[in-house]
Amino acid sequence: VRCQSIDGDEKKSNRSLLDNASNLLTQLLSGGSIGSMPTAEGAVSDLFGRPLFFSLYDWFLEHGAVYKLAFGPKAFVVVSDPIVARHILRENAFCYDKGVLADILEPIMGKGLIPADLDTWKQRRRVIAPGFHASYLEAMIKVFTACSERTMSKFNELLEGVEGRDEQKSIELDLEAEFSSLALDIIGLGVFNYDFGSVTKESPVIKAVYGTLYEAEHRSTFFIPYWEIPLARWIVPRQRKFQNDLKIINSCLDELIKNAKDSRQEADVEKLQQRDYLNLKDASLLRFLVDMRGADVDDQQLRDDLMTMLIAGHETTASVLTWACFLLAQNTTKMEKAQAEVDSVLGNRSPTLESLKNLQYIRLIVIEALRLYPQPPLLIRRSLKSDVLPGGYKGNKDGYAIPAGTDLFISVYNLHRSPYFWDSPHEFEPERFLVQRKNEEIEGWAGFDPSRSPGALYPNEIISDFAFLPFGGGPRKCVGDQFALMESTIVLAMLLQNFDVELKGNPGSVELVTGATPFHPKDGLWCRLRKRSHLHQ
Ligand code: HEM
Repeated sequence: VRCQSIDGDEKKSNRSLLDNASNLLTQLLSGGSIGSMPTAEGAVSDLFGRPLFFSLYDWFLEHGAVYKLAFGPKAFVVVSDPIVARHILRENAFCYDKGVLADILEPIMGKGLIPADLDTWKQRRRVIAPGFHASYLEAMIKVFTACSERTMSKFNELLEGVEGRDEQKSIELDLEAEFSSLALDIIGLGVFNYDFGSVTKESPVIKAVYGTLYEAEHRSTFFIPYWEIPLARWIVPRQRKFQNDLKIINSCLDELIKNAKDSRQEADVEKLQQRDYLNLKDASLLRFLVDMRGADVDDQQLRDDLMTMLIAGHETTASVLTWACFLLAQNTTKMEKAQAEVDSVLGNRSPTLESLKNLQYIRLIVIEALRLYPQPPLLIRRSLKSDVLPGGYKGNKDGYAIPAGTDLFISVYNLHRSPYFWDSPHEFEPERFLVQRKNEEIEGWAGFDPSRSPGALYPNEIISDFAFLPFGGGPRKCVGDQFALMESTIVLAMLLQNFDVELKGNPGSVELVTGATPFHPKDGLWCRLRKRSHLHQ
């Protein structure tokens, strides 16, 4: 590879109070100018008014697949090239850490997998990833359906409370909030066998989980990291509340860990060893971690692991469902096609593993929602050593050398909406995933080929050679991807089995909000639900 160099110096900015009070984005940047890359000059106004990833997309079309974004003297590298993304995430993955994302998430997740340093990560990934094996996922289908049934019953009860004939009755709901409660209940039961019961009630623990999520979002979108100022956690009311929320969740998790350890039984261990999950009363991941892996972990680490999965696996899944409904509700033909598939595969039965395999269109809707609204829209990395990014396409033929300490954004949003890899990239077209695609002009990109990952229920980064990255890729790929995909498919199928969904307002008025966290509609997703006509008495 012939390389151009980025002549950035490696000096780390000393974290003076002034630095702390500077923009979060400038905090991302390692300092020094970046040499010969195409440059997008960011203005402060780019940080306000609309989410940054929209501007990153416009600059991608203007400057190419790898460019630097300069804010004053600072710069960072924006990658929208699958060949470079593959290099950073898979081929040279251990040359990078999570950079500023780790700074934001560490106070919440401690040494959990997402922010963990490489040594801790290597040790914990080996322990946790095997917990998500096929038998566990199959057992989880019961959790997904039971929790979804609770939500469907809640909607039905609300409808029953409305006056009038069945066919005239409708309810208006914020579906985002409903999916959020449902996903919280599912993650609680699936990961640590705890029933938040948030679909039907509120509790201090539930409030604390939401408080923590809001704080993570606040920290990733607020430009002045004032929470790093000594004493801020005691003086600033929202920081005091955040500390209190963490305390509530942590003591709940501590108790669950203690219970799991105290109730360890050899009979369960045997069942786990034989992967006899369907006969286990508690099939949660915590049970697996304590029974099968308990000896090598302290409670603090286990708590960080659980907290990470609670945060990583909750809002992300709720967002996919929210955007899937947003897209479907604007597209009557696709909605009808989806409901026809649900009727023919499920009738009035609950989904099973077998029926999940036959719900192909619903699976593709979930995947297409993740393409258009990836959660999160950016993957954040910082180079630990100097590296050479490979050449790719669109202004990135020759590649670039980057120094240690360079901050990078892999823009999943740009990759997923790139006109070079997708026809009509902004259109909702679930069927696109069935079609092979190659761009001969892009040397080094293997193209899109659904047959490349035989047996996979869902399209992934392998079949698209890193042009489609909803769960990242390489060693730090999401551990919960199949869990989340199966969960989303089942919830969506059960919703469409029972209800017709309509947007309450104009789709154009739905405003996006995001940070390093999933993006969501600013004022929720207000929808009108009607019981499907064949279910009327
Ligand atoms: C990592 C997305 C659901 C647990 C990731 C990453 C992405 C992602 C993109 C990689 C981040 C990076 O490379 O910087 C999603 C989406 C989900 C989802 C879109 C839902 C639709 C879940 C669930 C769980 C989970 C349900 C757990 C039950 C994790 C963990 C990591 C991770 C622990 C860190 C993996 C590591 O660094 O080894 N997720 N996720 N996620 N996710 Fe998910």
